[in-house]
Amino acid sequence: MQYFSTNFKLGILGGGQLGKMLLSECAKFDIHTIVLDPNKEASCSNLASEFFVGDLMDYDTVLNFGKKADVITIEIENVNADALEKLESLGKKVYPSSKNIKTIQNKGLQKLFYKENNLPTSKFKIHSNIKSIEQDITSNSLTFPFVWKSAQFGYDGKGVKIVENKDELSELPNVECIVEEKIKIKKELSVIVSRNESNQESSFPVVEMDFNPNSNLVERVICPANISMSIQENAIHIAKNLSKSLNHIGLLAIEMFLTHDDKILINEIAPRPHNSGHHTIECCFTSQFEQHLRSVLNLPLGDTSIKIPGIMLNLVGENKNEGEVLYENIDMIMKMPGVTPHIYGKKKSRLNRKMGHITIVNKNINDAIEMSKEIRKIIKVTSK
Ligand SMILES: Nc1ncnc2c1ncn2[C@@H]1O[C@H](COP(=O)(O)OP(=O)(O)OP(=O)(O)O)[C@@H](O)[C@H]1O
Ligand SMILES: [Mg+2]
Repeated sequence: MQYFSTNFKLGILGGGQLGKMLLSECAKFDIHTIVLDPNKEASCSNLASEFFVGDLMDYDTVLNFGKKADVITIEIENVNADALEKLESLGKKVYPSSKNIKTIQNKGLQKLFYKENNLPTSKFKIHSNIKSIEQDITSNSLTFPFVWKSAQFGYDGKGVKIVENKDELSELPNVECIVEEKIKIKKELSVIVSRNESNQESSFPVVEMDFNPNSNLVERVICPANISMSIQENAIHIAKNLSKSLNHIGLLAIEMFLTHDDKILINEIAPRPHNSGHHTIECCFTSQFEQHLRSVLNLPLGDTSIKIPGIMLNLVGENKNEGEVLYENIDMIMKMPGVTPHIYGKKKSRLNRKMGHITIVNKNINDAIEMSKEIRKIIKVTSK
C-alpha cells in the first residue's frame, strides 16, 4: 500500500502530546491523519489532517471513527478495545492489536502474561477488593510494606501506593487491584522495542529513569543508562522476548526494575510511544515516533542507534490552581548549547500536569547531567 501523499488515512486514538509528536513524523512523510480525542483543545486539535471530538471509551464513537481510517493506532491505551476488535473483524488493521490493548489495560492481566510466559516480574496477587487484601493480612500471608496498584485506569503513578500500615490500606479505593512485593530498586530502566508485520524487530538503547517520589512521575531520563553491557543485553533480550510473546506490532515500552543483585524485573508495559523515549527525537537516528509509524505501517524499521547522548527533563505544572500556562525563563535555557524545549500546546497548567519536556544533548553524558540540574533550577511552569 502507498501511504505517502495518497488517500491513505492513519487513524490515531488520542490527541495528547504523544499524538502531537507522532503527527510531526506523519507530516514528514505526508501521511493523512485523523485523530480522535475527547478534548476539543487537545494538543493534536490543530495539527491533525482531520480532528474529531469524542469519547475514546465509547464503543460506537471508536467504531465509527475507525471505519474512516485504513490503519488504526493509539497514543493512549484507555480506549474501547471491543470496538477495535470489531474493526479488526471488519478487516481494518489495528496496531497494536485489540487483544494486546486488553491485556495491557489491566495490570492483573499484564502480570499473568509475564508469569505464563516465564518473563521475570515481582511476586504479585490479584484481588477483587480491599477486603480480600485484609483477609491475607489477617491470615499472615501478606505483610507490610507492599505495593498496591489499581488494576485499571491508573496513569502517571496515580493508581499506585506503597502501603506501610493498616491505616494507609483503608485510604485506598475499593477496586480490582494487584498487590506486589515491594522491590528494593537500584535503578529504573526502560527499553522501547518495536516489531512490524514482516517480523522485523528493533530496540532503542536502554535508558535510566528518575522518578519524583512525591508525584510518581518520570522526572528525568538518561540515555544511555549507566549500566554494564551484560545488563543492557539482558534488558533488551527480555524486552524483545516480551514483544515477541505478545506478537506485538508497533512500539512496546517496557519499564523495568534493576535490583541490587542486578536482576531485571518487568514492572509494566505500554503499547505506544512512551515518556521514556522522548529524547530519541534528538538523540537517535530514528525517533520513537517515527519508529512507531514505521512499525504499524509495515515499513522498514529505522536505525535506533545513538547519534548523541542526552537527557530528557519533564516539564510539569507547578501551580496549585489551574490557570493559563506560563513557561518562565525558557529563553534563558534556549541560550544553552544542545537544549531543545518541546511545548505540548496545553493552554492550562495545573499541578503535575505534563506540559512539555526539554532535551539536553551533549557528547559527554556527565556534562548533560550537570546541565540538567542547572536547567531544573531555572525553568518553571506555572500560570499567569
Ligand atoms: N513492586 C514495586 N516495588 C517498588 N516500587 C514500585 C513497585 N511498583 C511500582 N513501584 C514504583 O512506583 C512507580 C509507578 O508504578 P507503575 O509504573 O506501576 O505505575 P504507573 O501509574 O503506571 O506509572 P506511570 O504511568 O507513570 O508509568 C514505579 O515507577 C516505581 O517507582
Ligand atoms: Mg510506570
